[in-house]
Amino acid sequence: MRRCAGRNLRNDCNKAIGMPTRKPTRADVEALRRDIDHHNYRYYVLDDPEISDAEYDRLLRRLEEIESQWPEFRSADSPTQRVGAMAPTAGFKVITRTVPMLSIDNAMDADEVREWRERLVRAVGADGERDYVCEPKMDGTAVELIYEKGVFVQASTRGDGTNGEDVTANARTIRAIPLRLRTAEGPAAKKHKIPALLSIRGEIYMRLADFEKINKKQADTGDKLYANPRNTAAGSLKQIDPRVTAERPLRFFAYGAAGLSGTGIHSQWECLETFKQWGLPVNPLSQRCDSIEDIIAYHEKVAAQRDKLPYEIDGVVIKVNDFAVQTEAGTRSRSPRWALAWKFPPQEARTRVNSIAVYVGRTGALTPVAHVEPVHVGGVTVSNVTLHNEDEVLRKDVRVGDTVWVRRAGDVIPELVAPILELRKGNPPKFKMPVKCPVCGTPVERAEGEAVTRCPNTTCPAQIRGRLVHFASRGAMDIEGLGEKLVDTLVTTELVHDPSDIYELTVDKLVELERMGEKSAQNVINAIEGSKHTTMARFIYGLGILGVGETVAELLANNLQSIDELLEADTDKLSEIHGIGEVIAEEIHAWASVAKNKRVVKRLIAAGITFESAPRATSNEFDGQTFVFTGTLTKFTREEAEAEVKKRGGKAAGSVSKQTSYVVAGEKAGSKLEKAQKLGVAVIDEDEFLKMIGR
Ligand code: IVH
Repeated sequence: MRRCAGRNLRNDCNKAIGMPTRKPTRADVEALRRDIDHHNYRYYVLDDPEISDAEYDRLLRRLEEIESQWPEFRSADSPTQRVGAMAPTAGFKVITRTVPMLSIDNAMDADEVREWRERLVRAVGADGERDYVCEPKMDGTAVELIYEKGVFVQASTRGDGTNGEDVTANARTIRAIPLRLRTAEGPAAKKHKIPALLSIRGEIYMRLADFEKINKKQADTGDKLYANPRNTAAGSLKQIDPRVTAERPLRFFAYGAAGLSGTGIHSQWECLETFKQWGLPVNPLSQRCDSIEDIIAYHEKVAAQRDKLPYEIDGVVIKVNDFAVQTEAGTRSRSPRWALAWKFPPQEARTRVNSIAVYVGRTGALTPVAHVEPVHVGGVTVSNVTLHNEDEVLRKDVRVGDTVWVRRAGDVIPELVAPILELRKGNPPKFKMPVKCPVCGTPVERAEGEAVTRCPNTTCPAQIRGRLVHFASRGAMDIEGLGEKLVDTLVTTELVHDPSDIYELTVDKLVELERMGEKSAQNVINAIEGSKHTTMARFIYGLGILGVGETVAELLANNLQSIDELLEADTDKLSEIHGIGEVIAEEIHAWASVAKNKRVVKRLIAAGITFESAPRATSNEFDGQTFVFTGTLTKFTREEAEAEVKKRGGKAAGSVSKQTSYVVAGEKAGSKLEKAQKLGVAVIDEDEFLKMIGR
């Protein structure tokens, strides 16, 4: 831990209930400032803070108090001077720069990157591979920061590249932007001296979690939601009142500079390394690459991380490392030849809402869905976007005819971000949730404090259909060929009312249906037959009990001896199962109390459904003990090991908690092992486990 420069002063201050009594020396004040700068550096550049936010705030408040009591200590580069006392300005002054901020050419695939490199090699008259630096392409807003003798003096937006807007007062409020650059210590100090006049280029951005927090606040106060982190960051930077900007959690990464001659920095990589020493945050995912293959691997690696990063990126930027080669390559009118942006497929796209339909699911829940003009986004074509429930539609105020942003990140279901209100034509009517079920006409209900509107009629054809589709789905009975279309026909022709009717179907009955040949009919019947041998967990899940997803079904199957036990268990017994709460226990009990449900289960079992024999406990040796197996097991398979545990009356779980008795760690055990160590759960290896079971 670093020596704390301001410690003595802080102790003095503590005695005087926050207000220093004795006048500190200039050196004291400087030490306190350095201390604050240091913690800023730890937080934003190293991403490794030494103190809590509250402690940081205390330091800052102390400095503020000193500066207010003894104004002679005030200074423009003091960390207290982030929000100036200046009154909001009417507009932004335009600044004109001598070295313009350029844009970058785009490439969409590896071939375009290869072509770019070939052109580059031709231009600089060199052969062979060159050295590159690859960086994530931040999806924020570009700024230039000017430092005079290491002191921050001006910030401006990119504007048209040459002319930007002066946003100095706003940028000052961003803690990730150092008000003074750190002077490097040791040999590096001499090597890379801070030039008298330095222009830093980088990206202002907002983290996703911060963006969501802001939007939640907006929603709570009934204010308009922001569309995305990028626009919010750009909008926040261009606030007339810097106090508003100060409230926005903006961040900064530096990625370039002008005015480095004489510093001894000769390459992009050295530049990024020096930025860190100067206290400027640099994206830690930046990496050197020395071949096209390296660049492709980098792009793949970053693309795979994209959805897990705390901020949005829209590609990677590839830069020639060596400044001399950059100069040789030169620039075209607006973009350099030495840099290329390799974009990711867009995750957001604009489209139009053609209609908003309301669907009824197997639980009777009414779900509004926006039918949009088909649009390619996140690698798929999207034409339907769920709007979840009534509140969600009203909160977003989506209306038919609106132009909207649709987003699909990773494998997540597509989401309607927001309508673009400026493009709304006229005043289309607001969305209204129907008062009657759109399928059966029963008046719908919405329970107090709940977001879901439901059709209470359990015999509503939509619910019947939904339950059947769910029963036949892959995670449940997995009956191939029994999808939505066929289920629809079976319900309308009244061949099937509930899951147990499925097992009464025959080829003869099916061929009567429209567009059903003998062969398809036989296939369906085979699939139905094949589904009869299943697991208890799949069967329970297929019943479609409210709140019983695959995980809960698995818990029930592991802890109950038979389906009869499930039908007869009371709420207490169910909630005794670790991982099953009271609410779900009540749901299950209520479901099992309905005579019709019981009948369906009995008929299903009578139709010949059997369960893969779950290992039965033959001793109570491991009674009350839970085992978690993790890592690569070499002496037995996970299934075998879990069966051994269950045979002895123990339980096998998938995740580690305080309730876990043993974690059996194989090779390359990762997070579960870590968690076990953190919680102090006993960790054993495979041999020890074998000993426990007497082998
Ligand atoms: S370098 C000459 N590096 O992308 C190269 N730009 O058109 C100048 N951007 O709006 C830019 N991340 O703000 C560079 N790591 C990165 C970047 C980056 C995002 C933005 C930049 C500009 C656009 C370039």
